[in-house]
Amino acid sequence: MPDFVPPPSAELHLHIEGTIEPEHIIEMSRRNGVPIPSMDVDELRARYAFSDLQSFLDLHYSNLTVLRTERDFFELATGYLDRAARANVRRAEIFFDPQTHIGNGTPLSVVMSGLTRALGDSERTHGISSALIMCFLRDLGAQAADEMLTAILPYREHIIGVGLDSTEIGYGPELFVDVYARAAAEGLRLVAHAGEEGGPETVAATIELLHVERIDHGIRAMEDPRVVELLRSRRIPVTVCPLSNVALRAVPSLAEHPLPRMLAEGLMVTVSSDDPPYFGGYVDANYRALVDELGMTAGDLEQLAMNSFDAAFITDAQRVHWQDEVRAHFA
Ligand code: HPA
Ligand code: ZN
Repeated sequence: MPDFVPPPSAELHLHIEGTIEPEHIIEMSRRNGVPIPSMDVDELRARYAFSDLQSFLDLHYSNLTVLRTERDFFELATGYLDRAARANVRRAEIFFDPQTHIGNGTPLSVVMSGLTRALGDSERTHGISSALIMCFLRDLGAQAADEMLTAILPYREHIIGVGLDSTEIGYGPELFVDVYARAAAEGLRLVAHAGEEGGPETVAATIELLHVERIDHGIRAMEDPRVVELLRSRRIPVTVCPLSNVALRAVPSLAEHPLPRMLAEGLMVTVSSDDPPYFGGYVDANYRALVDELGMTAGDLEQLAMNSFDAAFITDAQRVHWQDEVRAHFA
């Protein structure tokens, strides 16, 4: 399929820090005087082999120590928007992890200034509508999440929602009930990672306890028909990241990925890239792999792309406009 053109889509599960390319890591290391294990792109890339989520997170957070300045955050987000535009992304709802940067000594104001400068005019500069979702790092716990929510409130207008990422096992949704309730009271949209490594019961608990509007990953929901029914009956979208799941061994191979079964079960499945340079590609590579390795049809891709706009936090007018584009793409 040499002339594969990815459908117009919304990318709803994308960690901006996870879009850092090895070339950026080296450049920012040099610019900021932050040492890294190697200044060689191939050597850095050779470390991108993972056994599970934690093995990725350890490398991911260690690479992020190079991000220091407003320019770094601006360039990071601009790099993603440039690349996403080439993947036909029309809308990006972008995760960021401020606790990581504050922990590295970078003030929140620097992070917010760089990201919002890049995203501010993205529709005009990149043809992509964009928004920020602030993630709490689950392994830092409830108190830290509560403090982070307080710290972000002066920037309330720059974020549309909150999410929950990092180590899943051992840091269940029950820890974050209060901070999610506070975020909801602020009018923030609610999403959370669940069911990437945690079992189906964690997906159900995340829905019931945190009242999230989308589940990020969610693939292990398929192990319990009651959780599948919960997702289906409440029309809760799941933001699935196929190449990520293979790279982090959440599934043994793409051929065994549950995504086709999720669609067949009538779930509102969407496709995203998570942390693309680490996992083998941006969202276009994910769509393409579904065709090449899972035999998905044009009709399946159309459904996934339509779902991405149904699941996005956008206006009805935007939804109608972009879904018309999806239909035209497949007509
Ligand atoms: N899961 C949890 N935390 C993350 C991920 C992920 O897939 N990517 C970046 N942080
Ligand atoms: Zn993720």
